[in-house]
Amino acid sequence: MALYSETVMDHFRNPRNVGVIEDADGVGEVGNAKCGDIMKMYLKIEDGVVADVKFETFGCGSAIASSSMATEMIKGKPLSEVAQLTNKAVAEALDGLPDYKMHCSVLAEEAIHSALEDYYKKHPEKEA
Ligand code: FES
Repeated sequence: MALYSETVMDHFRNPRNVGVIEDADGVGEVGNAKCGDIMKMYLKIEDGVVADVKFETFGCGSAIASSSMATEMIKGKPLSEVAQLTNKAVAEALDGLPDYKMHCSVLAEEAIHSALEDYYKKHPEKEA
């Protein structure tokens, strides 16, 4: 069996939503001290849903594929759903990751949650 699924390879080679949102409503940056990889997420929120999302990942292929998939999963979604995104769901959507690469999907979950926290910090009135 190939080490990486077709879906992982696709999102690694053609990552969706790469970039920066200059006037983002929430920004989250996380890193993994062990491998040194860093992920940054930008959220644009309108009427309680993710109107736009972009990411920058300085990391391995699985981290890039995880961030790409995670952004696709939350685009257009209400914030209540975004808050519940798990790394397991991201890894499943990628048709699996090798065990020792699961931490790459954790980075995507953490980056999104951190961007969401940043949004709520700036807009406490929006917190449910
Ligand atoms: Fe660390 Fe992938 S090896 S995020």
